[in-house]
Amino acid sequence: MGSSGKFDQRPAWTRDRILESLGESAVRLIATIVEHAHAENVEIYLVGGVVRDMVLERQNLDLDFVLAGDAIAFADKLAQVYGGKTERHIAFGTAKWKLDCAAINKMSLGSGAIPAQIDFATARTEAYRAPAALPAVEPASIAGDLRRRDFTINALALRIEAGSCAWKLLDPGNGNSDILGKKIRVLHDRSFIDDPTRIFRAYRFASRFTFTIESGTAAILREAIPVIQRLSGERIRHELDLILREAYPERIIADLSALDIFAQIHHSFRINRRSAEQFRRLREHMPKLRGGSDDVARLGWHLLFSSIAESDALLICARLDLTRELSRSIAGFTRLLASVDWLGAPANKASAITRFLDGISDTALRAALICCIDDGAVKKRMVLYREDWRHRRTTIDGKDLIRAGLTPGPIYREILDKLRSAWIDGEIETEDQERELFLKMVNKVE
Ligand code: CTP
Repeated sequence: MGSSGKFDQRPAWTRDRILESLGESAVRLIATIVEHAHAENVEIYLVGGVVRDMVLERQNLDLDFVLAGDAIAFADKLAQVYGGKTERHIAFGTAKWKLDCAAINKMSLGSGAIPAQIDFATARTEAYRAPAALPAVEPASIAGDLRRRDFTINALALRIEAGSCAWKLLDPGNGNSDILGKKIRVLHDRSFIDDPTRIFRAYRFASRFTFTIESGTAAILREAIPVIQRLSGERIRHELDLILREAYPERIIADLSALDIFAQIHHSFRINRRSAEQFRRLREHMPKLRGGSDDVARLGWHLLFSSIAESDALLICARLDLTRELSRSIAGFTRLLASVDWLGAPANKASAITRFLDGISDTALRAALICCIDDGAVKKRMVLYREDWRHRRTTIDGKDLIRAGLTPGPIYREILDKLRSAWIDGEIETEDQERELFLKMVNKVE
């Protein structure tokens, strides 16, 4: 095989073991790809997270292949023979093969779980021209490809040979033993300087698997923290988004916060001491969230800002290159939290509260409800707004105003707003009362 990596054959990587972990359909898919590689005379490996998760006996169908050859041409050929589409990244020598029904039928994969897309990469090394910059890539051996990776537990490859039922683990960093010892360990000392996103990844994996960051790795991680400032907003945003999709984001957030990592992203980015509690509450509400993990992540994004003023929140959102819509929603959330005393004050009418909350997104409102759950008066008003006040509409509309002979202008909005407020505040309860009030207003104008 010509690489300096070592194979760990305990426990044996039999077809049955792989089958147990991935299921029949995914194994058939892998077999088809491997046979194709064999016919093309290309060495192929299953690498990274999927192999790690097989060792950990966790479900993972994210199939990443590395080949000693042109990955883009290989994926194109698969799509040509079986169908589906490819998405190519020429600069990185990688391609995604997106399966469709025709391809699935042609490969006779059956009805079990299979991934929607499969990643192929040419074995490569990376040269970092500057800390935190994206690397230049060069073709390399599989051992070289594994050594460039973030952590030993992710630097695993399975060599699959067509027709063979025993697959072999390539493990140059002793990742298998780190998995057993529950350790996150880098493969080289510049790992975090080259790519500070790995700081976020280290805590994400540590939390997900309840592993600890090995002491030497923790020391070089701490030294690299200031380099986070050089990361693009997009790359940090991606890491935070992945964290918010984990089962217990608050643990990762607390670890990062303890190292003052949020302040490296932006000097006013501070995490609320109560955020752990808020994320726990978010989880309690999760079964009721219909939007799935995207919805949970969106709410989580808001909770990250629960102790930040609106003006700072906007600066942080810009640093993270968040979409305009999400930034506005987060700004509304901070404005809402800054106004809870006003919202709870009995003197403030339902209509005034409605006017204020009408300018705030529903996600921001739901996130604020999670934060204000202990404040009975505020919570009650927010719930009333969501369930009742915001849906109130007048029966009188613009046509009625024209019919009443009023000249179109700002007075139209004023009258309609006053009528809606009267409904919300309970000053009118029937259409007849609405009409009566309307006529009084018209008479006043005239
Ligand atoms: N990788 C890396 N450095 C990074 C990102 C990724 O070395 N900054 C390598 C790791 O070997 C990783 C692989 O690329 O296993 C694939 O990356 P990704 O899909 O992000 O990681 P997974 O390990 O699959 O993580 P997850 O389980 O969260 O999907």
